Amino acid sequence: MLVPNALEEKKRTGNEVKIRKYEINPDYKTLGIGKSYFVKTYGCQMNVHDSENIRAMLEEMGYKEASNMEDADLILLNTCAIRENAHNKVFGMLGRIKHLKAERPDVMVGLCGCMAQEESVVDEILNRYKWMDFVFGTHNLDRLPDVLHNSILKKKLEVEVYSCEGDLIEDMPVKRDSKYKAWVNIMYGCDKFCTYCIVPFTRGKQRSRRPHDILMEVRRLKEDGYQEVTLLGQNVNAYGKDLGNYDMGDLLRDVAEIGIPRVRFITSHPWDFTDKMIEVIAKYDNIMPYIHLPLQSGSDRILKLMGRRYTKDSYLKLFHKIKDTVPNATITTDIIVGFPGETEKDFQDTLDVVNECQYESAFTFIFSPRVGTPAAKMKDDTSLEEKEDRLHRLNKVVNKYSRKANDKYLNKKVKVLLEGVSLKDDSMLMGYTEEMKLVNVKAPKEMIGKIVPVKITDVKTWSLDGEMI
Ligand code: SAH
Ligand code: SF4
Ligand code: F3S
Repeated sequence: MLVPNALEEKKRTGNEVKIRKYEINPDYKTLGIGKSYFVKTYGCQMNVHDSENIRAMLEEMGYKEASNMEDADLILLNTCAIRENAHNKVFGMLGRIKHLKAERPDVMVGLCGCMAQEESVVDEILNRYKWMDFVFGTHNLDRLPDVLHNSILKKKLEVEVYSCEGDLIEDMPVKRDSKYKAWVNIMYGCDKFCTYCIVPFTRGKQRSRRPHDILMEVRRLKEDGYQEVTLLGQNVNAYGKDLGNYDMGDLLRDVAEIGIPRVRFITSHPWDFTDKMIEVIAKYDNIMPYIHLPLQSGSDRILKLMGRRYTKDSYLKLFHKIKDTVPNATITTDIIVGFPGETEKDFQDTLDVVNECQYESAFTFIFSPRVGTPAAKMKDDTSLEEKEDRLHRLNKVVNKYSRKANDKYLNKKVKVLLEGVSLKDDSMLMGYTEEMKLVNVKAPKEMIGKIVPVKITDVKTWSLDGEMI
């Protein structure tokens, strides 16, 4: 058994990051024959993409995907630790699964992802969820076949979580959700240690993938007919800082040069957003003009307490530089209200920035203390009621600008990558514009997988309607 340790997770070793190729023990390739699996994913795109690797590994072992959890022989929860409610959802789900396991004791139940890296979660599982079968962490995703094998063999809870990151694994198998758009990891981990954030603990130190490996993957995706790639990292602007003289500007340029129709990237931290990056984004038509630029707070005092290393002014300067340089730039953001010690005046500073930037959309959250992070120990005397009121007031302003941003699209022509049938109306298709607007489109089904011109005929707060032209 190998359990996580928060102090170890915080350490940043100077060890060189090694690159290893994924390999599966051939004996494990028959373990899942005749059985089915169900993976439930929580959290960010990084987890969504990890689940694509997990599904492929399970299929290599002979498992087939089940259409629902109730019928599956193996249930795996790929979890997120970013806020308390993410935790609660997972423990709620485990409650449901316990009943399933009581009816069908052969069902195997596992947990992985960011919660698996938390000492307190693994303690709780060891004490109160002994009926589970296996737990593995974010640093040993590739060990899933071994962990499963050990758990089946020993017939008891198998826990294998490394506190420190291991090698960079290349050539992991992948079963992608889409045939048209693909996630591509460019880096793992985060070294920023924003004081509220658990990610540097759960994902380890920053490790950039080698440019050659990333470019190869994008080239292959293009050959396979993919229309869009999204370069993934917690803080993509810091890409390459651990490599030497190749940075995010270089990578964006080289990926764009491959000629895949759409290139996206998430998430950009306002720190490290270089002029070179802005120029490259402006220069290449196939780099989408959509930038997620988390603000978190508009108050310099709170930004400092958060350890974000920018000020309201430097953020606004960057925002306007991007808007002025990148034609059509669409900027969205993340905001936390109720950080420890946030006053009404601090909150007003956040509203000021929102009013100035008029974001096209924003994800807004109430601060959630995470065990082991510095902010969890800061004095916090604002009531939950007050925090909820701030969130409500913020959302009202945010929604007003989302609607305003959408309104300007009425009767305009946009380009949409059609992904599939619309969820709200199965006679329509759905897809996203270059600026990441969701559009429900009247178009023939044969056009799925293509980028088509669309005229916008109706505007809502969260989506647009249109017709192919
Ligand atoms: N790497 C990204 C953020 C990833 S987490 C960045 O630096 O911008 C996604 C969002 O969750 C964050 O932008 C933040 O707004 C929110 N978040 C992270 N930790 C949180 C916490 N402890 N409480 C509330 N929201 C949090
Ligand atoms: Fe968390 Fe900050 Fe890293 Fe983003 S940059 S993942 S908020 S520590
Ligand atoms: Fe959640 Fe981990 Fe992503 S904490 S947001 S799944 S990196």
